Amino acid sequence: YSAEMAVEPGTSDVRRQHRFDQGSLERYLCRCLPGFPQQPAGALSVRQYSSGQSNPTFYLQKGGQAYVLRKKPHGPLLPKAHKVDREYHVQKALFSAGFPVPKPLLYCSDVSVIGTEFYVMQHVKGRIFRDASLPEVGPAERSALYLAMIETLAQMHSFDLRSLGLQGYGRGPGYCRRQVSTWKRQYDAAAHTDIPAMNELAEWLANNVPLDDDEEALIHGDFRIDNIIFHPTEARVLAVLDWELSTTGHPLADLAYATQFYFWPTSLNVFGQGSNEVNPENPSFEELISVYCRCRGISTTIPNLNFFLALSYFKLAGISQGVYARYLIGNASAENSHEFAKMVKPLAEKGLELSKRLSFSNMQHNTSGELFYQSRKGQEMLLKVKQFMKQHVYPAEKEIAEYYAKHGNTEERWKKPPVLERLKEMAKAEGLWNLFLPAVSGLSQLDYALIAEETGKRFFAPEVFNCQAPDTGNMEVLHMYGTEEQKKEWLEPLLEGKISSCFCMTEPDVASSDATNMQCSIERDGNSYVINGKKWWSSGAGNPNCKVAIVMGKTRNSSASRYRQHSMIIVPMDTPGVKLIRPLSVFGYIDEIHGGHFEVHFNDVRVPVSNIILGEGRGFEIAQGRLGPGRIHHCMRSIGAAETALEILCQRAAQRETFGKKLYHHEVVAHWIAECRLSIEQARLLTLKTASKIDTLGNRKARKEIAMTKVVVPRAVLKVIDCAIQVCGGAGVSQDFPLASMFAYIRTLRVADGPDEVHLSTIARWELLDQSKKLTAKM
Ligand SMILES: Cc1cc2nc3c(=O)[nH]c(=O)nc-3n(C[C@H](O)[C@H](O)[C@H](O)COP(=O)(O)OP(=O)(O)OC[C@H]3O[C@@H](n4cnc5c(N)ncnc54)[C@H](O)[C@@H]3O)c2cc1C
Ligand SMILES: *[C@@H]1O[C@H](CO)[C@@H](O)[C@H](O)[C@H]1NC(C)=O
Ligand SMILES: *[C@@H]1O[C@H](CO)[C@@H](O)[C@H](O)[C@H]1NC(C)=O
Ligand SMILES: *[C@@H]1O[C@H](CO)[C@@H](O)[C@H](O)[C@H]1NC(C)=O
Repeated sequence: YSAEMAVEPGTSDVRRQHRFDQGSLERYLCRCLPGFPQQPAGALSVRQYSSGQSNPTFYLQKGGQAYVLRKKPHGPLLPKAHKVDREYHVQKALFSAGFPVPKPLLYCSDVSVIGTEFYVMQHVKGRIFRDASLPEVGPAERSALYLAMIETLAQMHSFDLRSLGLQGYGRGPGYCRRQVSTWKRQYDAAAHTDIPAMNELAEWLANNVPLDDDEEALIHGDFRIDNIIFHPTEARVLAVLDWELSTTGHPLADLAYATQFYFWPTSLNVFGQGSNEVNPENPSFEELISVYCRCRGISTTIPNLNFFLALSYFKLAGISQGVYARYLIGNASAENSHEFAKMVKPLAEKGLELSKRLSFSNMQHNTSGELFYQSRKGQEMLLKVKQFMKQHVYPAEKEIAEYYAKHGNTEERWKKPPVLERLKEMAKAEGLWNLFLPAVSGLSQLDYALIAEETGKRFFAPEVFNCQAPDTGNMEVLHMYGTEEQKKEWLEPLLEGKISSCFCMTEPDVASSDATNMQCSIERDGNSYVINGKKWWSSGAGNPNCKVAIVMGKTRNSSASRYRQHSMIIVPMDTPGVKLIRPLSVFGYIDEIHGGHFEVHFNDVRVPVSNIILGEGRGFEIAQGRLGPGRIHHCMRSIGAAETALEILCQRAAQRETFGKKLYHHEVVAHWIAECRLSIEQARLLTLKTASKIDTLGNRKARKEIAMTKVVVPRAVLKVIDCAIQVCGGAGVSQDFPLASMFAYIRTLRVADGPDEVHLSTIARWELLDQSKKLTAKM
């Protein structure tokens, strides 16, 4: 055969028992299939796909055109099986509805052509994965492929049968009950030995048919990853194949069947299906299920998922038994048919085990519950970020620590470790970039809250995703208030991660929590502004890549109020007169990785008038916005830090023993663990509530919640870190554990993000206002 033929993978010469008259087929196609190459006669080549135990499938090729043909097998058949006309019909309906199936081209009921009915469809080029664990791709791609599969399934289940023109396609309500009895009957007919687990499973299924057995959707009946053609390079479904078992019925049967590989018995690793253990973290079974539910807009608490999982394994066991029975009578359709005998028992046992499975035990980490709405995109991004963290960020920790150990006191320490730059490139390439900015990411604050929590688990991680302070706040300012030129010059490179920035508001000489105190002067002089003043705590200024500062200063205006005396202005860091004086330490830490916290002096620094943001006297207006959505980013991230601390705590408590027992067997330590969990959950709930309120009512209406969050979260997180330090003993305060630096860093939030007292005053003011509204409402 030709070279071109050789490249269609998974095909071989037509098997003897499936041969048909190729000349007759070719003549028929020339006559009936529009676009089929007429010349040269006799050039049609036919190969048979080797997979599949059912309707024989063939690859047709002529004159550079490729098609796929499916036909009934020869010989006497079960009355309801092998209905290729149904396959054709359902594919046609789905194709018209825009669902990914191969385009059906022609159906032929005339058995005189090749001996049986058949149909022809478009040949789709792409990837088919025979092994459900997708060993040929990396974890990130694998998870994207699984997600694509599950979304496609959800899309199919969301169709209205009538609008597809498929009403009456199935047999009406009662699908689950019918499935149980059909497979039981088929199994009994084929059984060769007594398998108690199989009988027990059949009985359990019959007694546990879901109450909503009248649910009817179009279902595929054999929805597995190896029945899907994916795009050659992208994680996109091009076509779902093999519709022989499609019908209408309970959609969760497909869902359980499609995800059964998560539970594949380890004793059965001979066959394609799940031959390698699927990493349950990538994504987890629960995550896939919740993505499916979200896509379909149904609740993620599926009470009877166990039934469907158990049914899947019952069905697999039944099929295996059937294949083996056909082998015994010499009618096997595949070479490895005899091996199926060995599979029945483990499959049945797995089914039984799944029937007793504690449902959704892993859902405890699902923090949003049903209280808050996380968008589909948010879910996917969160999943991707989690995987990216696991795959790339955590493993880089060591290299980063080594970088700072090596460059300790040299100027090199202000540069970013090369691995960080690599991680940034990778995250950017995967689209995990600028997630903080709704206009760019399309994510809500609630979506971002959960993502920021993930990135908060390591202090260097936010930067990997270009989501680090103070750049996030500065980008928000430029995005909201910048002119087109300002955006072009500064916002674009910041969004691309090419440069970084700092924010200079706080001054050493005045109490800066009251920003009206700010002394630094910004004075108009012709076409320039001249800036003079001292700033400190300018985070990030030490980074050699920090190219620009947003400086807040006083543009005196005697006829304006106290809150219209200040302005914000853009100052390129290389402007003459900008001087980095010294980095300030935080409990002794210099925080090089965030570019330090610098004292910066401005001496006659001259910038063009066009550098002013929004206009003179508008500084407070901007400050309100700047600390708007981004106001609780720190809180979101620090919850992730608390999770890390609690993880360290629990590991240590499980490792070490004092006075004859493990640390966690000391009741007091166990209670600390519990208290930490309580603190984290409470803090997270408030944070998500605030995020959700920002999303639904806007910043201003969420002011009280924002203030509450900013007080509650650092307190809770500090408490957790403190417990972790205590449990780790001396190690806890040392450089060998991240806890000491975490404590130092989180402690600053009680000052840096606006002192607690200021927030408490805000909360009290709003509380009193709310109470007085209640009073007036009563009167
Ligand atoms: C790690 C870190 C990073 C920082 N990064 C930046 C940055 O990038 N850019 C920047 O401009 N600044 C930054 N800051 C500075 C930070 O914003 C200020 O420290 C903060 O605004 C408080 O100002 P202050 O230090 O002048 O304290 P002050 O204003 O002197 O306040 C001191 C204390 O007075 C008390 N107090 C203040 N107001 C009230 C009140 N209304 N009622 C009761 N008590 C009150 C509080 O206990 C408060 O802690 C950073 C600070 C830290 C520690
Ligand atoms: C096996 O298949 C052949 C046709 O391929 C058929 O004639 C025969 O009846 C089948 N045998 C049994 C036992 O079903
Ligand atoms: C968490 O569960 C809720 C419903 O319980 C669901 O809507 C949400 O998508 C889940 N989130 C994640 C991250 O799995
Ligand atoms: C000073 O403030 C007044 C009142 O807010 C305003 O009308 C005027 O434009 C301001 N002057 C400048 C130079 O911004």
